[in-house]
Amino acid sequence: MEKKFKRTLVTTALPYANGPVHIGHLAGVYVPADIYVRYLRLKGEDVVMVGGSDEHGVPITLRARKEGITPQQVVDRYHAIIRDSLRDLGVSFDVYSRTSSQLHHETASEFFSHLLEKGEFTVQTSQQPYDESAGEFLADRYVTGTCPRCGNERAYGDQCEACGSSLNATDLINPRSALTDAPVTMRETTHWYLPLDRWEERLRSWILDGHKEWKTNVYGQCKSWLDSGLQPRAVSRDLNWGVPVPVEGADGKVLYVWFDAPIGYISNTKELLPDTWQTYWKDPETRIINFIGKDNIVFHCIVFPAMLMAYGDNFQLPDNVPANEFLNLEGDKISTSRNWAVWLHEYLADFPGKQDVLRYVLTANAPETKDNDFTWADFQARNNNELVAILGNFINRAMVLTHKYFNGAVPAAGTLSDKERTLQADIENVKQRLAAALDTFHFREGLREAMELARLGNRYLQETEPWKLAKTDMEATATVLNTALQLCADIAVAFEPFLPFTSDKLWQMLGMDGKPAWTMLGQPELIAAGTQLGQPELLFEKIEDTTIQGQLDRLARIKEENKQASWRPAPQQPDVDFDSFMKADLRVGTVIECEKVPKADKLLRFLIDDGMERRTIVSGIAKYYKPEELVGRQVVFIANLPPRKLKGITSQGMILSAENSDGSLCVIAPSGPVAPGAQVK
Ligand code: MF3
Ligand code: ZN
Repeated sequence: MEKKFKRTLVTTALPYANGPVHIGHLAGVYVPADIYVRYLRLKGEDVVMVGGSDEHGVPITLRARKEGITPQQVVDRYHAIIRDSLRDLGVSFDVYSRTSSQLHHETASEFFSHLLEKGEFTVQTSQQPYDESAGEFLADRYVTGTCPRCGNERAYGDQCEACGSSLNATDLINPRSALTDAPVTMRETTHWYLPLDRWEERLRSWILDGHKEWKTNVYGQCKSWLDSGLQPRAVSRDLNWGVPVPVEGADGKVLYVWFDAPIGYISNTKELLPDTWQTYWKDPETRIINFIGKDNIVFHCIVFPAMLMAYGDNFQLPDNVPANEFLNLEGDKISTSRNWAVWLHEYLADFPGKQDVLRYVLTANAPETKDNDFTWADFQARNNNELVAILGNFINRAMVLTHKYFNGAVPAAGTLSDKERTLQADIENVKQRLAAALDTFHFREGLREAMELARLGNRYLQETEPWKLAKTDMEATATVLNTALQLCADIAVAFEPFLPFTSDKLWQMLGMDGKPAWTMLGQPELIAAGTQLGQPELLFEKIEDTTIQGQLDRLARIKEENKQASWRPAPQQPDVDFDSFMKADLRVGTVIECEKVPKADKLLRFLIDDGMERRTIVSGIAKYYKPEELVGRQVVFIANLPPRKLKGITSQGMILSAENSDGSLCVIAPSGPVAPGAQVK
């Protein structure tokens, strides 16, 4: 940080209001941004953190259509959930607004008009898929039809998932609307384009020469975009949900969601600071930091900067865009539509008072340089082995010992020994490294450094053994506990950005006044001798296996539901000639006896009345039926299969069952009583 800035504007990617936020959003954007902002505030810097919900775009309109409500109702619902859950996690926005607000519509509209007047757009006419029955244009994704390459009848307008080819909606055979299933036609439409190619050179030198310090994943993505050459991008869409295009005759057209959403950062700042917002956007002494996930890099590093440059008027470009990679959940990609996520609002309900545990785990395991995996086992282990056993343990020992030997009043330190001096130097080093990590957006490393303070504390108590000292030397005991309590207060300061709830609780417990500040960290008399401590309360508690199992069971249920929801009938088998088929002798039989086959959990043994005599058939349906419920029922079986030995029993035929989407089997039976032995034709 060689350049000296006067203030910082931190923006956080605006989450789509078509679902709640999940741990992926948190680990990628909101937790690191909040750590950073709290750290700057702790240092007394001028910093503003803006956020809000991204309430436009096609997925929101589809969700509304599916649920039979309006898009506004969809975003009202999720905006409230997102806003409240982020607040309850302690994400300390100065403003959390939304893009359906009037102020945002005005701001985005004005932005577009200004670019239009300046001649910053081009206009292009193209053919777009159109749903005749809905009277709407369709995004490629919402056209389905037959893949020209492999014949899959459920290919999407942008991709065939069966053969992996990437497609255009115009490639599909027999294209239909995913909205209404009506046939799709092509219609001509006109849109405004931002010619990114005009900005290519400036973007190139700004990023590739000017920001070599950016994270390698961010820099690398920008470089590959720039190297492959920038194209004009459409900034409007044919849709009836969004910011209307402010041009006469542009009815039914709105600004593309990725055009209006980043302008939301500006609208939100305006909403917070109606009089001074421009300082945060146009003063070169302001530093702008965009916290985002990796899928947003091109929009924040290329498109939005091009928009800002096109606008002119001294709008500043971001100083850094510390984008994160993705967090997976138990080995699978997080997905809102497949419900494969840990939802923040559900976590808060399931784990009341444990906001900091989630913040800790997501930071310790943040996908800063590569995709990472969230597992419940890791969540439990980090809570039990780190928060409880290291951090909570140190604080608790210092508190309890002070209550035991000094009635809970901070004892005055006597003569310091080498041990205290070494500890003091260690704390100072941690402070330097912690600051260096946070200044450069290395939050995992920062958290490790903060934890180092608790480790130092445990080691110090282990080496000085105040519980033994107290038998012989109260003055030395006083020095040790004073030192330990100073470190507790240091911990409250150092952890404020990471674990604000814990820091707060600890600050209170230590009987401290006011608020922590960065300069306090490492001060030898941070907590004054004589200060009366509160009662020692546990900062963290063990998380039991049953709790974790409950979460794993939930995920297993979702996995099963998804499997069933994505079930499709098996592809049809190759043709069989009629005579071959007729050779299979299918008959109806009546079940006389049915029992489980010992030592085989899948098998049932049947005795079947086949009209002539009785035959034994073994069938693998024990998981789906109780033997007694089948006795007396009629079944269909293949009579002319060669006998086969199963678990020592000779099976004379095969009972027919249908396999359901969940893999369960359902026995085939005639719809009315039939004479045993009747042939099935
Ligand atoms: N809603 C987008 C997403 O979730 C992010 C928008 S960021 C903004 O991927 F800059 F456009 F606001
Ligand atoms: Zn295909």
